[in-house]
Parts: sequence; C-alpha cells; structure tokens
Amino acid sequence: MKRLDGKTALITGAARGIGLAFAQAYVLEGAQVAIADIDMARATAAAAEIGEAAFAVEMDVARQESIEAAVAAVVARFGHIDILINNAAIFTAAPIAEITREDYARCFDINVAGTLFTLQAVARHMIARGKGGKIINMASQAGRRGEALVAVYCASKAAIISLTQSAGLNLIAHGINVNAIAPGVVDGEHWDGVDAFFAKYENKAPGQKKREVGAAVPYGRMGRAEDLTGMAVFLASPEADYIVAQTYNVDGGQWMS
Ligand SMILES: NC(=O)c1ccc[n+]([C@@H]2O[C@H](COP(=O)([O-])OP(=O)(O)OC[C@H]3O[C@@H](n4cnc5c(N)ncnc54)[C@H](O)[C@@H]3O)[C@@H](O)[C@H]2O)c1
Repeated sequence: MKRLDGKTALITGAARGIGLAFAQAYVLEGAQVAIADIDMARATAAAAEIGEAAFAVEMDVARQESIEAAVAAVVARFGHIDILINNAAIFTAAPIAEITREDYARCFDINVAGTLFTLQAVARHMIARGKGGKIINMASQAGRRGEALVAVYCASKAAIISLTQSAGLNLIAHGINVNAIAPGVVDGEHWDGVDAFFAKYENKAPGQKKREVGAAVPYGRMGRAEDLTGMAVFLASPEADYIVAQTYNVDGGQWMS
C-alpha cells in the first residue's frame, strides 16, 4: 500500500523544477497528477515522461477564467481532486528605488492572487464533494524575513504564510487541511534567474551567488527539488490529518520558527 494510493492531485507550475519533482514523487506514491502550467509544451513533455498517471493541463493562475477551466478539466479527467499544490510563482527583484507598479502587480497576481483563487476554486469543489482534502501552498524563507533587493517577492511569500493560516483555520471545518512548505535556496532554473539578477546588482560572476548561498546553508549545500518531496507527500497523506494552517521550513537549517 502506497501513501497516496487512489488519490488525485492538481499541481500548479509543475512543468519543471520543484513542482515537477512533486508530481514525480506523488505518482511513485500511487497518485494521479495533473501537471498544470502556463508552459504547455513543457507540461506536456513532463506528463508524457511520467506516464499514464499524469496529464498536462493549461493554466494561468493569474487569470480567473483559466483557473476555473483548469480545475474543471482536472475534475472531468479524474472525477475529483483530493490534493492541490499551489506551486506556481515567479521571482522578481529590484532595489526599492527601482520597483515598478507593473512588476509588483504581476508578482502579486501570480504568487498571491493565483494561490488564493486556485485554492478557492479547488476548496469549493472539495466542500461540495464533502470528503475533505489537502492543500499545500509554496511559501519560502523569503516570506520569513525581508531581503534588501527582493521586497516584492518576499512580501508575496509572506502573504502566502498568512493566507495559509486564514484558509487553514477556515477550511478545516470541511476536513480540508491547508499547510505550506517554506523552502530555502533550491537549485534549478528559478535560481539560475536569481543568480543572474545578483550578478548584475552585486557585480558577481555568474554562479558566484549560488556558491555563496549554498555555502551559507547550515546543511552545507543548496537544496535540490528532491529534498522537498518527503514533506509534500507527508502533508498530503492521512498522517497529516491533525496538522492545520502551518508553514514548515525545509531549508537545510536556514530558518527556525
Ligand atoms: N527555487 C527556490 O530556491 C525556491 C525557494 C523558495 C520557494 N520556492 C517556491 O517554490 C515554487 C517552485 O519553485 P521553482 O524553483 O520550481 O520555480 P520555477 O521557476 O523553476 O518553476 C515555476 C513554474 O511555474 C510556472 N508558472 C509561472 N507563472 C505561471 C502562471 N501564471 N500560471 C501557471 N504556471 C506558471 C512556470 O512555467 C514554471 O513551470 C515557487 O512557488 C517558488 O516561489 C522556490
């Protein structure tokens, strides 16, 4: 018996990186997964590689009609949704003096409104079905503490921690557990972009910022997407039924709370 046997999961932003590792881990634990992403070419390739337990669905979490269409498509395919991972997000950074309204609005539309309204759409389905569910939001160590050049992204991730608390308290009455994972620094394409940003603003050689942040992690290296899958499986499993509205750090010892 696997830990997610018979379960169905919708994972946003799962075409690559951490979301893709979650999809692979869930399938290994017996679940069927919907790989929802704005990048359909990569979502389709990822689903094909995983096999018949996965399918790709087009979804832009910044657009309400896209959220509703994607949730409906997943329900049509699987019959119901047991698990949602709100994983899609973008990174943005700039000194305070250079932040633009456009950048702020885009980041909050995807990271915050995208998480809230995807959570809402799936929660409505779970409430109507009456069998509870598990919702996992992706926060970040960036949500625990501001960073000089990363104001907007940090604020968006702090909002995820707060939304997880409110939604967790509201939805547990329906048997829906809402919790979050706060990773530290996880190598991959997301961090390629972060590294390039710091190369520009801190005059570093390409790759230097990654080496510095990796060396500063108490565990001794940057995280890998696979470092997070154990927590994602656990929070989706019945073992986590009594866990409500929490944000768990999975970060090699970076943050303590
Ligand atoms: N990588 C890290 O160091 C790190 C650290 C802390 C938290 N996180 C969080 O973990 C999650 C995954 O991070 P990652 O490193 O895999 O990121 P990533 O950039 O590699 O992947 C993000 C995915 O989201 C998709 N996406 C972007 N905008 C979208 C939209 N509007 N609608 C649907 N999909 C969209 C992208 O196409 C991509 O497939 C994010 O929430 C991120 O903020 C990452």
